[in-house]
Amino acid sequence: MLEYALVTGASSGIGLEFARLFAGKGVNLILVARREEALVKLSEELTREFDIRVSIYSTDLSDVSNSNAVYQFCANNGLNVKYLVNNAGFGLAAPFFSIPLTNEVQMINLNVSSLVALTKLFGKDMVDRGEGKILNVASTAAFQPGPNWAVYFATKAFVLSFSQALWAELRGTGVTLTTLCPGPTSSEFGAVSGGDKLAFFDSRLPNAKQVALFGFKSMMRGKRLAIHGFKNKFTSLVLVPITPRELLLRVLLWMLK
Ligand SMILES: NC(=O)c1ccc[n+]([C@@H]2O[C@H](COP(=O)([O-])OP(=O)(O)OC[C@H]3O[C@@H](n4cnc5c(N)ncnc54)[C@H](OP(=O)(O)O)[C@@H]3O)[C@@H](O)[C@H]2O)c1
Repeated sequence: MLEYALVTGASSGIGLEFARLFAGKGVNLILVARREEALVKLSEELTREFDIRVSIYSTDLSDVSNSNAVYQFCANNGLNVKYLVNNAGFGLAAPFFSIPLTNEVQMINLNVSSLVALTKLFGKDMVDRGEGKILNVASTAAFQPGPNWAVYFATKAFVLSFSQALWAELRGTGVTLTTLCPGPTSSEFGAVSGGDKLAFFDSRLPNAKQVALFGFKSMMRGKRLAIHGFKNKFTSLVLVPITPRELLLRVLLWMLK
């Protein structure tokens, strides 16, 4: 049976680079995002360059029922998903009370609910087959609350917590789950979230290709946690845990303004 990698958010940024990496290894692809044109363009590029099959599925994953539709599409077409990359996501950089609730509900549905649904649907089949690899994209935002990004940071904290719990449950099943935590990365994320106006979204950011390659290698090795970059790792695992919470929140409020 042919094996496939399913990548959500494959129309740009980190997800697009993940798709290129799988293609380079000869893995067939299912590309998911809303922008059909971008998916068609990428599919044409990859099938021209590599001897692989590429299916595209254009959908809005902030409607959670569409996760089920993606799964049904794969089942109906006999697409055997061995690798799942839950990458689609967006953030919103603004004070909580200035953001319309509908935007935040969409964010929670996409970043959290559809990620859980896809992990459940495809992960169950992987466990039954005794093999598979899942990568969930969280963020260094997952390690602390984010004033002025309150809901986004909380969605990523959910992804980190959920994914690590599942990593433990999956031990011995033949299925691995890796949580990728990028720090600020150059992609469309900055413009979509409005975060590109912040000082740390500068020109020296790592690009999506570097982050995807790091995530790809970590996924293939079955690593539990993959924090990209030494500075991000040190901040998330050492600096944040030892800093008193109130001090941390004051500093973050200033930094994230
Ligand atoms: N860039 C950073 O600084 C950074 C840092 C930490 C974590 N991350 C995380 O990394 C992941 C990828 O982000 P990126 O940096 O590559 O940003 P990006 O370039 O904006 O890519 C986001 C992807 O998600 C897709 N997407 C957005 N809304 C969607 C929806 N409702 N339904 C289906 N797909 C949707 C977009 O495609 P369509 O618009 O075509 O739907 C796009 O392909 C996200 O989970 C993000 O939170 C990014």
